[in-house]
Amino acid sequence: ALERTLSIIKPDAVKKNVIGEILARFEKAGLKIVAAKMKQLTREEAEGFYAVHKERPFFGALVDFMISGPVMIQALEGEGAVLKNRDLMGATNPKEAAAGTIRADFAESIDANAVHGSDSLENAANEIKYFFNDSDVVSH
Ligand code: CMP
Repeated sequence: ALERTLSIIKPDAVKKNVIGEILARFEKAGLKIVAAKMKQLTREEAEGFYAVHKERPFFGALVDFMISGPVMIQALEGEGAVLKNRDLMGATNPKEAAAGTIRADFAESIDANAVHGSDSLENAANEIKYFFNDSDVVSH
C-alpha cells in the first residue's frame, strides 16, 4: 500500500555533508520526498520526539546527540514506505548493518547512526504530525 514515513538525517550525517547522497538513495528506491525541512531541534523537541525511549539508559545521550547540530527532516511516500526506508537504513547499530545500507556507509556508532526512520505505520503518522502540519505535506 501507499505509505508515508518520517525520516531524519541526523547531525553526524549533516556534518559529513551527505544530505544529498542520502536523499538520492530514497529517490532511487522509489520513495518521494513529500515534506522536508532543516531544523536545529531544541532539547524539548528532541525529548518529545523520543519520549518512548525516556526510561532507556541511552536517552540522555540520544537527546544530547540529536541537538548537537541541525537535522534534515523529511516525510517519504511510496509503496511500503515504512519498511522500504528501514531496509535502506540498515540495522540501528552500524556494525550490524548490511553492506550498502545508509548506516553501513555513513554511520559511526549506534548513537551517531546517520538516520532515523519510523518503525511502524502508526508511529510514522504520529512522527510526521510531530514535525509537519498537514498542509506542509504535499503529493506529487
Ligand atoms: P533511532 O532510530 O533514531 O531511535 C532511537 C535511537 O537511539 C536509535 O536510533 C539509536 O541512535 C539510539 N540508541 C542508542 N543506544 C541504543 C540501543 N541500545 N538500542 C536502540 N537504540 C539506541
